[in-house]
Amino acid sequence: MKKIKASTPGKLMLFGEHAVIYDRPCIVAAVDQRFMVTVEEIEGEEIVVQAPGVGMHDYRKKLADLGETRIPKGLRFVEETVRSFYEKHKNGGLRIKTENHFSSEFGFGSSAAVTVGLAKALHELFKVEILEHELFEFCYQVVLKVQGVGSGFDIAAALYGGVLYFVTGGKRIEQLKVSNLPIVVGYTGVKADTPTLVRQVAELRRQHPIRVERWFEEMTAMVEKAKRWFPQGEWFKLGKLMDENQEILKKLGVSSVELDRLTGAAVKAGADGAKLSGAGGGDCMIALVGEKKRRMVEKAIEAADGEVLKVKLGAEGVRIEK
Ligand code: PMV
Repeated sequence: MKKIKASTPGKLMLFGEHAVIYDRPCIVAAVDQRFMVTVEEIEGEEIVVQAPGVGMHDYRKKLADLGETRIPKGLRFVEETVRSFYEKHKNGGLRIKTENHFSSEFGFGSSAAVTVGLAKALHELFKVEILEHELFEFCYQVVLKVQGVGSGFDIAAALYGGVLYFVTGGKRIEQLKVSNLPIVVGYTGVKADTPTLVRQVAELRRQHPIRVERWFEEMTAMVEKAKRWFPQGEWFKLGKLMDENQEILKKLGVSSVELDRLTGAAVKAGADGAKLSGAGGGDCMIALVGEKKRRMVEKAIEAADGEVLKVKLGAEGVRIEK
């Protein structure tokens, strides 16, 4: 029977995290570590999922029960994507396999990547035409249903790839022309829980609305500058902007001992600037650093107990693999 394989890139947030939840812009880059999703029609009335990355082998669910009973955490996005698709279109047995090129612990956006890959593969398998912005909306609704919160920036990165200027819910999505972004990525070794951190910031905003809104406005100004400076390759200025963005993230309370240690070490070793990337609390940090000092910065991150991840930014968006 027909089989379709799709692949999607992971992502890293460059500027504007958290503020982007509140109708503001951010800058996100797709990374060249890809997620694979294979779908195949099978006989019978169930879906069979193999997702070794989240420790799931031969998970079975009757089509009639999709979304109705308890779902293991790692499979909520898979099940909700199939349920949403079947609600509108076709029904039938499916075998689904997901494979990671990278650990889902890194915070490269595995949930969004799997959702986009699976949605694309299902539309392809059943020959349902869909425009890119409609596919964005379909996937964004899946994420909101499963997670309750989220700006959709990770969906956009998985779908369109490249380096994007993105406003909450996809109100604006613009591809920036950026080449050879000189970035070093360090993993803290700590897995962060995005919804918890988003709720934490929401609570701070409830308690101190004026202060937090002012920080978000400052971040917006940074994102607008970064939008101009990335295509011009103004790495030094962008580095300084990263330091400023990191200061606000610290005030928001989302940095951590590990993130402070790794960003501090990177800057001390000669990076132009460094910040956490994403929700905070753990996951990855990024540093802008010229070629000459790159090795020094990588060594400093390792000496500070970080793991340097070799990734390239600006990767291609979702694609069907032959
Ligand atoms: O934790 P990550 O890498 O998925 O990033 C979350 C970024 C937030 O702005 C905090 C949330 C969002 O959906 O935009």
